[in-house]
Amino acid sequence: MARRGLLDAAGAAALAVAVSLAVHVALHCPVQPVGPPPARPAAGAAASRFPPNNLLQNLEKLGEGMLRAPEDVYVDNAGGEVFTATRDGWVRRMRANGSWERWGLVGGTGLLGVAPSADGAMLVCDADKGLLKVEENGRVTLLASTVQGSTIRFADAAIEASDGTVYFSDASTRFSFDNWFLDFFEYRFTGRLLKYDPRTGEASVVLDGLGFANGVALPPDEAFVVVCETMRFRCLRVWLKGEKAGEAEIFVDNLPGNPDNIRLGSDGHFWIALLQVRSPWLDLISRWSLTRRVIASFPALVERTKATLKGAVVAQVSLNGEIVRVLGDYEGKVINWVTSVTEFNGDLFLGSLATNFIGKLSLAKVTREQEDAVPS
Ligand SMILES: *[C@@H]1O[C@H](CO)[C@@H](O)[C@H](O)[C@H]1NC(C)=O
Repeated sequence: MARRGLLDAAGAAALAVAVSLAVHVALHCPVQPVGPPPARPAAGAAASRFPPNNLLQNLEKLGEGMLRAPEDVYVDNAGGEVFTATRDGWVRRMRANGSWERWGLVGGTGLLGVAPSADGAMLVCDADKGLLKVEENGRVTLLASTVQGSTIRFADAAIEASDGTVYFSDASTRFSFDNWFLDFFEYRFTGRLLKYDPRTGEASVVLDGLGFANGVALPPDEAFVVVCETMRFRCLRVWLKGEKAGEAEIFVDNLPGNPDNIRLGSDGHFWIALLQVRSPWLDLISRWSLTRRVIASFPALVERTKATLKGAVVAQVSLNGEIVRVLGDYEGKVINWVTSVTEFNGDLFLGSLATNFIGKLSLAKVTREQEDAVPS
């Protein structure tokens, strides 16, 4: 009898917990998952040609302690000066002699992509405000915060073409930068590639339905524009010239990670930062929409889940979209969460949302290490 009563009480308590959990999820769940996450590239293709290595662990740290989460990094081809935007709202510059200075103040915590403009100003993607132009004297101009009547929710990366047109990405129309990770609980593919025309002062949509629209780049001849789809392990290209002008197609897919920023290096190749949005825990909870809904309803659990993601990977990709080389820090010992990579005169420069420095790596040194490691 007593035992029966205890079981009844336990059952009632379990039911109460389940009901309150269901109510909490029903009231607070910020996501509406629609389907399973896109399949990861099979272990075959890219991964087997490029066995995991930890060559990024050889990097040198620039500006350590001064740079809060420098998401993007750009090196000026003329002077070798390094530009980045940090969480304290500053665009910062490293002179060729290695000294850092505050270049321009924008404010806010959402500065992401930085790219040069032909007039000497800097294009800056402020995730929260839109596409900005920042001048060295501190003048900030908002170029685009809406596109054809809809708000640009998550300006991420930009590149200026030689005719002045700016191509830029709006990662998601569902979530802002502060909640970007929730987009990876929903998988609704609402990212967009946008274009700003300085002649009309208007932005327009080039491509929509993207699985988190991220890095944007142009090849030297500007025959196409590339946009990376973080969720789908691939980058697309939209032809700008020739008979296929206006058409979109896959540029590179089956990348060994989730592509973030992409940049054309001085070596004539694109370099792509590949986020590692995976962990045994994330893979487990991603299997069912119910678990995704439950975890997403508790901000602390979302943060815990994000903290399980470790490692850094970058890839060198030819102008034809062939993966040439993959470098990593798979254990995330020295650098994690690399969001941008650019090559300049044989060195790689790495930006990250998880560091307080810019990573610099000599490719010649890495090549020597690789050759030494191969038995002859
Ligand atoms: C580096 O160059 C800048 C600009 O020319 C100068 O202001 C600065 O003092 C130099 N720093 C060092 C350490 O030489």
